[in-house]
Amino acid sequence: MNLKIKKILNKKNKTKIICLTSYSKNISEILDKYTDIILVGDSLGSVLYSFDTTKKVDLNMIIEHSKSVRLGVKKSLMVVDMPFNTYRNKNEALRNAKKIIKYTKADAVKLEGGNRIIDIIKFLRKNKINVMGHLGILPQSHRGKFRYKGKTSKERENLLADALLLQKNGVFSIVLECIETSLAKEITKALKIPTIGIGSSVNCDGQVLVTDDLIGLNLTSIKFVKSFYDIRKHIDLAVRKFKDEVKKRKYPSTKFSY
Ligand code: KIV
Repeated sequence: MNLKIKKILNKKNKTKIICLTSYSKNISEILDKYTDIILVGDSLGSVLYSFDTTKKVDLNMIIEHSKSVRLGVKKSLMVVDMPFNTYRNKNEALRNAKKIIKYTKADAVKLEGGNRIIDIIKFLRKNKINVMGHLGILPQSHRGKFRYKGKTSKERENLLADALLLQKNGVFSIVLECIETSLAKEITKALKIPTIGIGSSVNCDGQVLVTDDLIGLNLTSIKFVKSFYDIRKHIDLAVRKFKDEVKKRKYPSTKFSY
């Protein structure tokens, strides 16, 4: 078993797992010291390219960003999202997962869904591809307004059954997106593998956030997002200083000239 995955499994019930997204080298270099998992999420479509849906992210985009991310990752486990329409059947999934791993040296791939894609997950695992699951809100297949999952008893039963099914078929961890607090607790308790929550309460084994949201670079009003910093203020200051010095012919001084 991949040693980094083993380490993550061992954290269950001991210490929280830290997961963050990255789309580039410089950010992953900073994150790597603090994270257990760095995820190249297809959220890059909305965060970097202002797409209205993650469905517009393609394999080439995720691979190019992941190659950059890889350059900054040393100790964390690197997981790459399989984009929409890259795992419609098991052969397509295996071909594309292998391509992602070959070009990016990712440790694992993440796929959205439970029962619906279980044969694909089984096939990837049979072929030694490490897989992270993703349940709850599934941006690649979501239609309409985002609302949390686990409102009805049927939905709760299905989500718990999906989580157990994913575990049985070899995923090493599951992202729970926007799952109601008590259900996130129940799922986390029922599983031997760790759950990584996003908008799914403190009851998960770890937490993931989009880094651009947490540093205040990407402006969003999503309920579960806490902006831990205002990086825009600092970029603004640096750019203002640059502009000021250029206008005043202070920069580049002789020190910065040949
Ligand atoms: O695409 C992404 O960044 C994700 C996380 C938000 C879990 O899937």
